[in-house]
This record gives sequence, C-alpha cells and structure tokens, in this order.
Amino acid sequence: MDTWTPSSWRERPVLQMPVYPDATALASAEQRLGALPPLIFPGEISQLRERLAAVSRGEAFLLQGGDCAESFDEFGQEPVESTFRVILQMAVVLTYAAACPVVKVGRIAGQFAKPRSSDTETVNGVSLPSYRGDIINGSDFSASARQPDPARLLQAYSHSAATLNLLRALAQGGFADLREVHRWTADFVRSSPQGARFEELADRITQSLAFMEACGFDAARAPQLHAVEFYTSHEALHLQYEQALARYDERQQRWYAASAHLLWLGERTRNVDGAHVEFLRGIGNAVGVKIGPAASADDVLRLMDLLDPGQQPGRLVLITRMGSDKVADRLPPLLRAVRREGRTPVWCCDPMHGNTVTASNGYKTRDFERILQEMNGFFAAHAQEGTYPGGLHFEMTGQDVTECRGGAQALTDERLEERYRSACDPRLNGSQSLELAFRIADVLKSARR
Ligand code: PEP
Ligand code: CO
Repeated sequence: MDTWTPSSWRERPVLQMPVYPDATALASAEQRLGALPPLIFPGEISQLRERLAAVSRGEAFLLQGGDCAESFDEFGQEPVESTFRVILQMAVVLTYAAACPVVKVGRIAGQFAKPRSSDTETVNGVSLPSYRGDIINGSDFSASARQPDPARLLQAYSHSAATLNLLRALAQGGFADLREVHRWTADFVRSSPQGARFEELADRITQSLAFMEACGFDAARAPQLHAVEFYTSHEALHLQYEQALARYDERQQRWYAASAHLLWLGERTRNVDGAHVEFLRGIGNAVGVKIGPAASADDVLRLMDLLDPGQQPGRLVLITRMGSDKVADRLPPLLRAVRREGRTPVWCCDPMHGNTVTASNGYKTRDFERILQEMNGFFAAHAQEGTYPGGLHFEMTGQDVTECRGGAQALTDERLEERYRSACDPRLNGSQSLELAFRIADVLKSARR
C-alpha cells in the first residue's frame, strides 16, 4: 500500500473539518481514543464484505438506513430499538416479496459528523459557526454551543459503544426471532394501511413456519430464524476520530477502521486528491462513496481505482443520489462506463439527498413521491444498462415524526411542525419507510426476474 499510513491524509487538502481552538485538548482526546477498544472486529468486516459480494453478483439486496445525524440527546432504548425494528420489517418485506436475502446496515452507532454547505449560519444578523454534528459542536444557536469541543469525540465513542451494544443484543437476543414478527410493528404503524399489509405478511410467515414445523422441520435448530446479522455504518468525515480508531489486524496484516463496519464518503469530500479519499483507501472495511449528478464517468472510475484497485468483490458501494429529475439522464452513462471496464461494484440508490426542498413554512423536507421516482429511475437505468440495482440508502427513523411530505399518510406542509425532530435532514417515519419497502419489493421482484 505504497505511502499510505493512518495519518497520511494529513498531507492532503482536507475539506469540511472543524478548526478546534484548543489544539492540545484535541491531541489529548485523540490519544485517549487511540487507547480504547475497537468497536467492531475485523472478522465482522470480512463477513459484511462477503455479503456485499453477493449483492454485487445480484444475489442479495443492501438496505442501509438510519438518521441523517444521530444526536446525543435523542438517546436511549426507544430510538435505537424502533429504528432497528423498522429496518427488520423492511427487510422481511423485501425478503418475502422478492425472495431476496437482505443485507442490513444501519446509519447508526457513529453517524455524528455532518458536512455543511456553509461554514456559518446567520440568524437575525448574528453569524455563528454552522452546526456540524454532535461529535463536533452543539445545534443550539449560541456561541458556546457552536464552538468545536474535542470532549465530544469521546462522547461520540461512548454513545456509539452503547448503541452498538444494544443493537447486538437486539440482533442476537431473541427480539429479531422471525417467530416474533408480529411484535415488530409500532402502534402508530399498526393502524396504517402499510401496518395492515405488514400484519398480513406476518400472518403468512407465521403460517409457513407452522407448516414447516408440522412437516418435521425443527425451527428451534435453525439459527437463521432466531437472529439477524446487523452491520453499522457512518460517513467517514471526522478524520482525527477515524484515525484514532484505526487498528492494525495482525491476522490479515492490514489496517481497518474500528468505528463501524462500513464507512462512506459524502458527496462533498470525495475529491480524488483530498484527505478523505486518502484515509479511506487504506482501510480494509467495506467502503462507500456518494455519487451526485455532477460526477462524470471519469470521476467515478478514478475513485474506483483509488478505493478498490484490486477490484475485490464486496469492497466498494457506489451510492448514487442524483435527484428524481436527473437520474434518467445522469445515471446510465456511469453504469455503462463502469460495466465497460468489467467492474462490479455494489450500486445503491440514495433517493433522499438529491430531493431535499424547503417547504413554504421554512422546513427542510422531501416528497415521498420524489423519493419513489428516484428509486424507480434507478431501477429503470439498471434495467436499461444490464447492471444490478443492488440497494437502498435512506434516512429514516422508527418514530412517528413528521419530516417528509406525502406517503399514504399524506403529510402536508402544515403538519411538518407537529413532530419535526431531525437535527439535520428530514427522515421517513416508520410508516413511510414500510410503504417504501412495499413499493420497492414490487419493482425488485420484476428486476430480479
Ligand atoms: C448524508 O448522507 O447525510 C449526506 C450529507 O449525503 P451527501 O454526502 O450525499 O450529500
Ligand atoms: Co442527510
């Protein structure tokens, strides 16, 4: 790996990073992080990479979802459990309807750093540094909250560790048992049309399990029915944090990021000569890159050369986020160029970040129909180019928030203020997420045929 080291990114131009007023405090936080145990293990990364390799061969589907930005305050069992539950439900819908294994990855247990389009925010003539995620500063509009604080790096680590601990328990400890499928629906979803549709599906699964047991199949001995694999991911934005948590794996003789199973680069920090690409290229994790409408086929191929020179199956996820009005135009040439090179990354659709608008009352929102349109455009482009539409990357919460418009609930601008809780971008709520899964299952079923 030529000149790469965990700190070689420091020689490159670095975008979107905070300036800490107290360099000594930052160095001491980095040192403390460096001495803490890894959050995840290399064997788990290898397993995820195998699962993603199956996606790249068209044998599975990637579901990657969670908050735009996790928050230190919205913390505890409920938010984590409800998000996990909705991802499980969506996975069951896709697995059942499209007979397709689903690789489940949360934007969770470390999704704390946010890129911003402006360094400052101005309210009533007062300008302060922008909020950059809880790992950096606070969202309150005050000079003290907006000051980058290195102590937050350690807080982010401990929040991630606690969240991950709960996720591991939920995934392995009985909650995710397929025989519990009826208990995954939140009360507010149960009464919705999607909730009813899910209950029907859950009935059918329960009946199938009973049928198989009556035939002599011993469900108690089938581990696949009792636990799920659940992986974590976040944007690799805060490079001091990621470097401090990089660990060397003696067995495989390579470095890996011990902060999450999969790390991705955002649309704003994927410049090929930049610090973020430099850091990511040297770690052994599965890695992702957001690809927006301005990306050329050349940009994509150069990124692939840097991040996946060995063309290893399951290494690289390209997350396209074009916008519902641009996807038909911008995506096919990229698919064609990559296919022409004989490469098979995982292609994943982020139908959220190209479709953010400001509502008449000032709320940042997204239209459910636009999200669906981009998803449909993604499937259509892959069908046209003969490539495999491998996944969905989306912002959601299991809670009953009112942040995105539309869906079967027909949320309108007026209702956004009722329960708008996102610290950053608008998320689909539990009911809208489930609705999206049903709509995708229909398309995926025909795409896989
Ligand atoms: C995000 O995923 O929250 C994000 C900022 O996305 P993008 O880099 O695609 O704008
Ligand atoms: Co976002």
